[in-house]
Amino acid sequence: RPIYLRDYRPPNFLIKSVNLDFKLDAAATKVRSRLKVRHNPKSQVHNAPLILDGENLKLDAVILDGNTLTRSQYRLTKTSLTIPETPIKPFTLEIHTTIDPSQNKSLQGLYRSRGVFCTQCEAQGFRRITYFLDRPDVLSTYTVRLEADPKEAPVLLSNGNRLERGTSDRGERHYAVWHDPHPKPCYLFALVAGDLSSIAADFKTASGSDVGLTIYVEHGKEERAAWAMDSLKRSMRWDEKRFGREYDLEVFNIVAVSDFNMGAMENKGLNIFNDRLVLASPETATDTTFEAIESVVAHEYFHNWTGNRITCRDWFQLCLKEGLTVYRDQEFSADERSRVVQRISDVRQLKAHQFPEDSGPLAHPVRPESYIEINNFYTATVYEKGAEIVRMIATILGAEAFRSGMDLYFERHDGEAATIEQFLECFAEVSGRDLSQFALWYSQSGTPHVECRTSYDKRARTYSLTLKQTTPQTPGQQQKNPMHIPLRIGLLGPDGHDLPLTTDAGDALQDDIIHLRQPSQTITFTDVPARPIPSVLREFSAPVHLEVELSEKDLAFLLANDSDAFNRWQAANTYAMRTMVAMVEALSRGKRSSRGTGFAKALSAALVDDNLDWAFRAELMRLPSQSDVATEIGQNVDHTFIYRAHRQLTRLIARRLEDQLAAIHDTLKESGPFSPDAANAGKRAARNAALQLLASLGSKTAINRTADQYFNASNMTEAAHALNLLAASNSPQRRTALDHFYQRWHEDHVVIDTWFVAQAQSPRNNALDVVRALTRHERFDITAPNKVRALIGNFALMNPVQFNRPDGKGYEFLVEQILAIDRFNPQIAARLLNAMRSWRALEPKRRKLARNALTKITKHPDPSRDVHEIVLRILDE
Ligand code: ARG
Ligand code: ZN
Repeated sequence: RPIYLRDYRPPNFLIKSVNLDFKLDAAATKVRSRLKVRHNPKSQVHNAPLILDGENLKLDAVILDGNTLTRSQYRLTKTSLTIPETPIKPFTLEIHTTIDPSQNKSLQGLYRSRGVFCTQCEAQGFRRITYFLDRPDVLSTYTVRLEADPKEAPVLLSNGNRLERGTSDRGERHYAVWHDPHPKPCYLFALVAGDLSSIAADFKTASGSDVGLTIYVEHGKEERAAWAMDSLKRSMRWDEKRFGREYDLEVFNIVAVSDFNMGAMENKGLNIFNDRLVLASPETATDTTFEAIESVVAHEYFHNWTGNRITCRDWFQLCLKEGLTVYRDQEFSADERSRVVQRISDVRQLKAHQFPEDSGPLAHPVRPESYIEINNFYTATVYEKGAEIVRMIATILGAEAFRSGMDLYFERHDGEAATIEQFLECFAEVSGRDLSQFALWYSQSGTPHVECRTSYDKRARTYSLTLKQTTPQTPGQQQKNPMHIPLRIGLLGPDGHDLPLTTDAGDALQDDIIHLRQPSQTITFTDVPARPIPSVLREFSAPVHLEVELSEKDLAFLLANDSDAFNRWQAANTYAMRTMVAMVEALSRGKRSSRGTGFAKALSAALVDDNLDWAFRAELMRLPSQSDVATEIGQNVDHTFIYRAHRQLTRLIARRLEDQLAAIHDTLKESGPFSPDAANAGKRAARNAALQLLASLGSKTAINRTADQYFNASNMTEAAHALNLLAASNSPQRRTALDHFYQRWHEDHVVIDTWFVAQAQSPRNNALDVVRALTRHERFDITAPNKVRALIGNFALMNPVQFNRPDGKGYEFLVEQILAIDRFNPQIAARLLNAMRSWRALEPKRRKLARNALTKITKHPDPSRDVHEIVLRILDE
């Protein structure tokens, strides 16, 4: 049964304070909860019964104002506890439950990860700990007492500040009491208890308060937490400077756990992380991991204001905290590193995940209007498109007014559970702008298409852009309205410099932003001395599909000259994509396209431009992925042709630029100690990108170069990349490198995932057999989400040619695994199913096989709500 946004009602009861008492035990943890409850004066219902959520709980007692209720005084179902009669005045409700963390493999609620007790309550895990009003608009202050065996769990943590600790039972047990003074919804509750090591640091806030920072990790991994700590301090400083936000407790704790459904969680004062997003050293982690750690540490920290101090009224408003916080972490990374490279990587991510979501059966508005299982809505659309919306607000308002709007939002809604309307109102108010059309970005799903036609009038010296917008139909939304789309533009004169933008377009052009609001609009520029080359959607100012008439010559010109570095990259990317699509078309007609040399030449010229930093040049060398090409083609997709076209262009570039690429690979070789900073990471990225192109040749020289990088690497960035390339090859070094890596890292449960990934992504013909065999490997564990993602997730998402085998065996394998995982971890099972969302775009044979595999899930007697919802939406005719 779906839940609808329009059915929102304020809660009938409020819970002022929560006292929790945990007697931690692996198989039988006793939870005592004491709640101060009162009727909500804003409730629209009188004499409502008190209905608490609860799942998988053993109820031991219910005590109302000191009186134990008898069985007839409450009702119990599988998902709720109802107390029909409650006092009119505020009352105290005590609930005793028993739970079994050791059997909890859903990783929601209280569970154990490698012997450590930990929790995940967002979105609805708290109801697996105790009966409660498990909804984000019920805010309470928490006091938590944890008691455990001191040998098993010397570390006892919860939210807020620690009030007390001591021993009991003559030293047999010990306890700690934590208090969080900031009212919060229960999804932000957390506890951790276990035998952990830690590193600590101090932070002084801008206004002079001291904060103790601690990161808890497995024993022996302390040194690998240093980068996360460094990232945390920089995040805290940045939020003070950029948004005026200070931290608000005496301590801030981060705990790394091995079994975690997502990346990390922003629990107040006690962030819990997937350990692969905390642990990093040059030997064990790639630059990409260092970057990801920096960004996720920042993300979770930034939630303290955007998510925790101001939370969401209901789960439909999820983008209020997630879109905004992603925008904030992207801005942080842009400030800490290269702004344009950050933008390129964010746009790549958006186009790789959000665009396909938005154009397939799982398309939904950034603020959905209904859901069956909320965990299915932690999506690229809510997160990444949500961040793009905030970015567009900043673009439309300008930096200063945007900051004022944020200030007003923090001031007005601190301590509240807010909505998107309230958020937008702050920006409308400070800027005096009407954002009502803009608000459509939250409710209308699908990626708008913007078509741009140009015409130059030599006599009149005018140049016009005619812009048309359309948004394709999406599930449940047949009618689409025109959106307010901010398009940042420039016009390049024949010398490659920007022309001044003079027009009589009025409000439709402000500075270099065109405000496209109509289905079709023409902007005419005056005083244009010669036909310019248009640079549209600079900085990717709106999440749209853009179609502009640009010849290959124009693209090469933009790549060489555009003052907007993002669009230089975009030109290269468009050029490469066009070339590959032409190659796919030729292959599907049994021909071979002769294109590619134009792009190779343009790329070669850009690579010698020493004004471009290496990270940027690395981005130019990274061709659109096979999945990107599949998305671009959009229908009748044949992954065999895409694989071959991709290889064809890669090899053509490698052959033409062989010496140049080899020189890049040679000269950028590291000297001196490893540093994870952006400049050094950029050099390694360029080296790796050059090697990847070269390795496609499969020649002895290329393979030796790759093997040499693997065996002589002084850091994981070079080792892992070379390992991936060797694993994809048919060389004798393939086996030696994989075995070598295994010998070196098999005891490290984080690093060994790299070994699974390399094999899962290999396009060799036996990939499926290899992957299947690895599911039975002693280092594989189907209950550990990181292992499942490394092996099965990567096979389905990052190995398109082998996953989409013409015999359909890839689909069958995935469905088999999904059904197995769904029995204990529905969230991970549903997530994997996302890999099938573009099945309808496949060519007819594969489409039929994919549908057959999906149908198997619908025939399964007892799928989880998570998987059930996704399969319904994916198959919906
Ligand atoms: N709020 C977390 C973050 O974005 C994500 C946790 C989501 N967890 C879940 N089970 N849906 O940082
Ligand atoms: Zn988040």
